[in-house]
Amino acid sequence: MNQLHARPLTARRPAAPLIGDITVPGDKSISHRALMFAGLAIGRTHITGLLEGEDVLRTAGAMRALGAELTRLPDGSWEVWGRGVGGLAEPDDILDMGNSGTAARLLAGVLASHPIFAVMTGDGSLRRRPMKRVTDPLSLCGARFSSREGGRLPLAIEGARDPLPIEYRLPVASAQVKSAVLLAGLAAPGHTIVEEPEPTRDHTENMLRHFGATVHIGEQGTGRVITLVGQPELRAADIAVPGDPSSAAFPLAAALMVPGSRITVRGVGLNPLRAGLFATLQEMGADIVISAPRLEGGEPTGDITASFGPLRGIDVPASRVPSMIDEYPILAMLAATASGTTRMRGLKELRVKESDRLAATAAALAANGVRVQIEGDDLLVHGNGSPPQGGGLVATHMDHRIAMSAIVLGLATAEPVSVDDTGFIDTSFPGFVALMNSLGAGLAA
Ligand code: S3P
Repeated sequence: MNQLHARPLTARRPAAPLIGDITVPGDKSISHRALMFAGLAIGRTHITGLLEGEDVLRTAGAMRALGAELTRLPDGSWEVWGRGVGGLAEPDDILDMGNSGTAARLLAGVLASHPIFAVMTGDGSLRRRPMKRVTDPLSLCGARFSSREGGRLPLAIEGARDPLPIEYRLPVASAQVKSAVLLAGLAAPGHTIVEEPEPTRDHTENMLRHFGATVHIGEQGTGRVITLVGQPELRAADIAVPGDPSSAAFPLAAALMVPGSRITVRGVGLNPLRAGLFATLQEMGADIVISAPRLEGGEPTGDITASFGPLRGIDVPASRVPSMIDEYPILAMLAATASGTTRMRGLKELRVKESDRLAATAAALAANGVRVQIEGDDLLVHGNGSPPQGGGLVATHMDHRIAMSAIVLGLATAEPVSVDDTGFIDTSFPGFVALMNSLGAGLAA
């Protein structure tokens, strides 16, 4: 995003409870993958519910630059004509992935096994994020990369002419790294094998199968081994993208924090590898009810209702991290309103998100009178069962989730909470402020 001016906002306690029945935009992870797989398939894929956030539009732009045909239809759905596995064309300019780590890392996997040259860059946040975690394993297929110090963008990619299948054990539990390796494996012969120490979101595996590839998933200790049979012919397959549970988390958290509130979010993706927040909130005593469970586009989906009530602090184990990696900032805000201490363990990966989210979350709380500590990789938030003081200005560091978390906090604090910039919210949740206002949040710039 090339913003000329920051867009600050102040959130204050609404006069009345938040009440409503809403949907949230499509799942970000699934939307990126839908466009990439559709671009690698033969034929026409029709996608409904695609997230039209900045991040996903970057993936759309890159897939166009690589020769896939993407059209937004008048009803808001998308049509993609793919080029076939190994069939993408060399882009004639730099690919700008904006703020999106998922777009950059997954696309690096796609490009690694195409015989083309490409250069990728991104905004100030993305250019600071580690890429060696994908370029190291992707080099094993024969691709060559040159980048700035520490593997950071801009990154030049010379894809392999005759890609080899990769066998790789993930050193960190990362769905992005797993997906990059699997995407590279599409154009390689033989078996591409990824071992993950803990199960991470499996949208790539689900989508590979949906488009006709053969994938075996085995259990191994606490983790999984994923085997992809290479060089499948991916066949176009329509996709209905469910609502993003990571986006639903914000209005649901607001309902839990503003007295008297009750909010239902319909059609939310409930993939078990994404649902850690809802289990955690139930352990904290939250009134969260999941209804109408169903399968949509191969992904479990349901309606979630959250109602205001007291929360208690708990110990969140490190094993929960992969299933709620993006939800810790908003969980920390909720923990600030709970009674007692919440310890969130094992948050090392939060340091390399759109911002250093561990530091940014702690700073957002501290600026608003909440007692908070970072101990090693753990975050401790001390709540006393009443609304935090508020009154602080939160630095969002180009991070959409820090901005949305701080705004939700400001709906519950005694004094208003200000954020320095709401512009990056559009990367994942276009219409966030208007949707919150439709529930009675009364947010104004
Ligand atoms: C994502 C995986 C996670 C997550 C990100 C989306 C994905 O990142 O934080 O928002 O779509 O695969 P990591 O793989 O780095 O944990």
